[in-house]
Amino acid sequence: MLTPTSPTLADGTRIDDLVNLATREVQMRVLSDPEIYELEMERIFGRIWVFLGHESEVPNAGDFVTRDMGSDSVLITRDNSGEVHVMLNMCTHRGMRVTTLDAGNTQIHTCIYHGWAFRPNGDFLGAPVDKEQMHGKLMSKKELGLKRARVTLYGGLIFATWNIDGPSFEEFLGDAKWYFDMLFLRSDKGLEVLGPPQRFTVRANWKAAGEQSAADGYHTLTLHRWLGEVGNYKKDDGGAADLSQEMYGAEVSSPHGHALRCIDLARKIRRLTGKEPNDLSLEEKLLALPPPGMTPEMVPQLKKHLSDGQLQVLTWMPPQVGGIFPNVLFGFVYIPQADGSVLGSITLHAYVPRGPDKLEFVNWILAEKDAPQELREKMRKQTTRLFGTSGMVEQDDSDTWPHMTLAAKGAQGKKMTLKYQAVYETGKPAGWPGPGIVNEGFTKDDTQWNWWLYWRQLMNGEL
Ligand code: FES
Ligand code: FE
Repeated sequence: MLTPTSPTLADGTRIDDLVNLATREVQMRVLSDPEIYELEMERIFGRIWVFLGHESEVPNAGDFVTRDMGSDSVLITRDNSGEVHVMLNMCTHRGMRVTTLDAGNTQIHTCIYHGWAFRPNGDFLGAPVDKEQMHGKLMSKKELGLKRARVTLYGGLIFATWNIDGPSFEEFLGDAKWYFDMLFLRSDKGLEVLGPPQRFTVRANWKAAGEQSAADGYHTLTLHRWLGEVGNYKKDDGGAADLSQEMYGAEVSSPHGHALRCIDLARKIRRLTGKEPNDLSLEEKLLALPPPGMTPEMVPQLKKHLSDGQLQVLTWMPPQVGGIFPNVLFGFVYIPQADGSVLGSITLHAYVPRGPDKLEFVNWILAEKDAPQELREKMRKQTTRLFGTSGMVEQDDSDTWPHMTLAAKGAQGKKMTLKYQAVYETGKPAGWPGPGIVNEGFTKDDTQWNWWLYWRQLMNGEL
């Protein structure tokens, strides 16, 4: 189906031409084309809800951090009333950055150029040499405040959008919210970051990482096969494990490009308890294998915050990896330990666009606020070893994305396609209580294909 309003690129190609709905192919040039990149900054990062961080990064009045929302630097602050704000990090005088720091605490943000000053909520306070009225008489002080984004806090996660009157955050999550609530709204006190995020630059287009985060389980078998050979999943006898077992479960696709890989816990529960999961009550399963980052003592909190259906999924095929459109990966992963126990890792990645062939990988490690200190420390160490800058897993991933981006620049390469032709034909697992587009079986391409369909809709300006 062609869209009448589909934008046309300089060479006459329409956005519609880039995504072939019949053959489930995407033109490789999307991974390198500067014109497409500029359109994405407007139509995707300029319009939808963008993940920027966690409110525990700015716990006190006056705290601030700077982040990137698409191609714009933004200032995230907490004001004296406790409210979190997201504002364009650009002085309203002549466009200097309001702050050049990554983080800090201040009650007054003073621009270093001519000294215009702003409150943590973005209000313009005044300019030096006040008696000369250096901000002029044409605009009131009220009009000279920083440009504010619309903000939502979801389980402490900070999302913002420039689309002030656009869809609510709940609408943006859609059916996927039922699953994300199991991760981010499951406890009394919620999650917090374990220190500032790690950040590093990868010479790759942001979508190479973004579409992978939409639940590409397939690559784990090959790119990350060391996990089964020398890593945490290797067999007790030292032999290589068949990782394809980990690729079975259910996958949740979303019309808004979100994706969740729900992996069957049966084998882990069997190993931990020596019993068949079906012979155990929901409570027994939760106590034997609490969700990543929780202890048996915290299990009553789950029952307080989640529905019976959510608890059923949580003890059966819980979401472990997936993405929030367009550029966030979450991991709530159960990692086997050498002593036979299981230790959770909780991580969030943002793949921040830094140009058509560059992204900044931002990695947060999280834990429950009221989890025991010993557990938090173990999680921090394990998650650092596996994910992020020094993590073994993403050294693999961040090796592929630059090669794909380079390939997409080739005169021949840019005419080739990305393919998403492995299609589920199964539907929901029998008795699945959750909403949305759910398919059971070995990981397929549906979640990533839905990611591209939403990308196409946004780029066409349909939403
Ligand atoms: Fe900020 Fe002039 S640009 S005070
Ligand atoms: Fe990976």
